[in-house]
Amino acid sequence: AFKPLVFSGVQPTGNLHLGNYLGAIKKFVALQETSDCIYCVVDLHSLTAQLVHADLQDQTRSITAAFLASGIDPKKHIVFNQSRVMQHAELAWIFNCVARIGWMNRMTQFKDKAGKDRENASLGLLAYPSLMAADILLYRATHVPVGEDQKQHLELTRDIAQKFNNDFSARIAELGVGVEIQVGEETVNGFFPMTEPLIGGPAARIMSLRDGSKKMSKSDPSDLSRINLTDDADTISKKIKKAKTDPDALPSEVDGLAGRPEAENLVGIYAGLADIGKEAVLGQFGGQQFSVFKPALADLAVDKLAPVAAEMRRISADHAYVDGVLRDGGERAGNLAETTMKTVRDIVGL
Ligand code: ADP
Ligand code: NA
Repeated sequence: AFKPLVFSGVQPTGNLHLGNYLGAIKKFVALQETSDCIYCVVDLHSLTAQLVHADLQDQTRSITAAFLASGIDPKKHIVFNQSRVMQHAELAWIFNCVARIGWMNRMTQFKDKAGKDRENASLGLLAYPSLMAADILLYRATHVPVGEDQKQHLELTRDIAQKFNNDFSARIAELGVGVEIQVGEETVNGFFPMTEPLIGGPAARIMSLRDGSKKMSKSDPSDLSRINLTDDADTISKKIKKAKTDPDALPSEVDGLAGRPEAENLVGIYAGLADIGKEAVLGQFGGQQFSVFKPALADLAVDKLAPVAAEMRRISADHAYVDGVLRDGGERAGNLAETTMKTVRDIVGL
């Protein structure tokens, strides 16, 4: 039977927040039941926007600890950090030569992160999606759980796979290394799959608590904008209490959230934490004021996050254990990666 192969990554760049947890990590945990999973701390990616980091090793351990504390099983699945498996960089280079500069220039994340002074952005920031495509396709992953913000990068991953399959179609056929790949309505012979993003649910895009038009982000200068996984109960309650809202009561239908981004965001957070739909949240709180809803949300958040935070602190203090997990995961990922790269080198003629 077909078993999905899941790959995803999180950058080791501080301030792991509720958006990362609900939009990504919680989905990673759930997928373990049905899929073979590879979860990666993408340290190479963290150099793209900022080259010098205070403590990359500690940040890497902290994200690894978050994976483990959330319930990812490193024995049944693979947990490792990207820089251990040099094939990521090798395949990214080949993909840099497959992808077109125009494709990269169209990426909204690049435009956002580069800002006005694009000429001065690092080449790595521009090429980021090409490394991301390599991360995924090195394992020929079939599914990638991510937040909404990564949708465009996943489309680019498929474009790269398709161009590679197409440009090297003769060589892939000659070597007999192709498999049947569904491209839209058509079935073609290719080496890399058309990876499907797994985006969705009420928490696919958690917004800043201070500004309903911006996503909750590690890099937001305002600490009140996000709930960090490591925040204590008082801090979580304070941040939710101070979250921007409008003066109206909650509606009883999801349609009633239209044009109320801050209200919609808090309802989405509740739904994501409780594993229910927004409808069910409004069924319970429709007609209530935020003075009632916010304390209930704070209690739920503390309830769900406090055990993860405590476990995260315990695990990240045990350097030997965390380093062992990464070493073992890196070895297993490295073997899979080398199998793919042997064929890729053959296809390309290297
Ligand atoms: P960030 O975007 O916070 O810097 P990463 O790039 O490491 O963090 O993203 C890790 C994962 O978290 C990705 O799958 C990303 O899509 C998801 N993610 C990031 N921010 C949010 C958010 N505000 N809501 C939902 N998912 C998010
Ligand atoms: Na991101």
